[in-house]
Amino acid sequence: MKQLEFLDLRRLNEPYLSDFENATCTNFRSGHYIGGPSVAKFEQEFARYCGVRQCVSVGNGLDALVIALRALGVGVGDEVIVPGQTFVATWLAVSAVGAKIVPVDVSSSTANIDTVLIEGAITPHTKAIIPVHLYGACADMARIMEIARSHSLFVIEDAAQAHGAICGGKRAGAHGHVGCFSFYPSKNLGALGDAGGLVTNDDVVAERARLLGNYGSIQKYVHSEIGMNSRLDPIQASLLSVKLNNIDNIIEKRKKCAAAYSEAISSRSSTKLSRLLKDDIDCVWHNFVVLADDRQQFIDHMKSHGVHTAIHYPIIPSRQECYLEEFGSINLPISERLAAHSVSLPIGEYLNECEINQVVQAISTYL
Ligand SMILES: Cc1ncc(COP(=O)(O)O)c(C=O)c1O
Repeated sequence: MKQLEFLDLRRLNEPYLSDFENATCTNFRSGHYIGGPSVAKFEQEFARYCGVRQCVSVGNGLDALVIALRALGVGVGDEVIVPGQTFVATWLAVSAVGAKIVPVDVSSSTANIDTVLIEGAITPHTKAIIPVHLYGACADMARIMEIARSHSLFVIEDAAQAHGAICGGKRAGAHGHVGCFSFYPSKNLGALGDAGGLVTNDDVVAERARLLGNYGSIQKYVHSEIGMNSRLDPIQASLLSVKLNNIDNIIEKRKKCAAAYSEAISSRSSTKLSRLLKDDIDCVWHNFVVLADDRQQFIDHMKSHGVHTAIHYPIIPSRQECYLEEFGSINLPISERLAAHSVSLPIGEYLNECEINQVVQAISTYL
């Protein structure tokens, strides 16, 4: 039986090999090994793709969030609302700037922040909301922006998993004051190493972000802020430009894969397994997540059919050792339930029909 890994990054990147080689040689010959034309080109292309004025590239997605918070002046004494279930980086960014994390539970149908609960978490100290577009589907940005406007809050979108997702006619990252992206290798737009970026329509925020990621300096050896070194490598920038050219195709193929899995689940009425996202939500399917009543049984069944799965994420941030003391007793029932039952199926633009069918068959026999 063919073994289908949860993710095969080498296969995913194989089609780009000769373009990657050319791009790497061009960088080598250019003599620009920090910054330079490859970085500027990718920033322009990604800003245009997101439909915003500015993209500031940085070293990774966590830095994008930290720099966004700092560029907006969020820090000690401020509170920041975050979802109860997300990759821990969303929370770490708030901790890094010394602000207080205020977790809000997520919706059981999307795993994104439950907008009904946001206003109850706002206090006079609240400065920002960080919605996460988990698994590739946008949080309810129309409602979040409405709440933010009425309470004068900043919105920083954590769009690390949602490159290209559209809601309300805008791409992920273009709704809030700043949108933050990771280009970690496994992301839908992934580099061959760490990489990240933030997008914004605010030129002042963009300039401050650029400065913060470059030692707090615009002019060499002149430092106006206590900055950090977080810059996108030019080789990674040029590889990202290659893949950005193909992003619509990447998303299309992922949607096709997700449609086949969704159909396999919806065609049988069973309480053993359910889909997380329904058809009315545009999703770019960074992950395809199902909820299994008996998770271990489902994982074992899929494995016995050669299909390897993953869990995003088994322990919610408040239950992580680093946050246990502060948040261990907080009640986030939906986040906890998702962490206990979610399973991610293999998904990727490189999967062929036969492999997609292998997953579909395994789901069908389980049900
Ligand atoms: C939702 C979310 N936020 C932030 C990050 C952090 O990105 P990075 O790994 O590039 O630091 C990631 C991915 O790793 C993520 O999935």
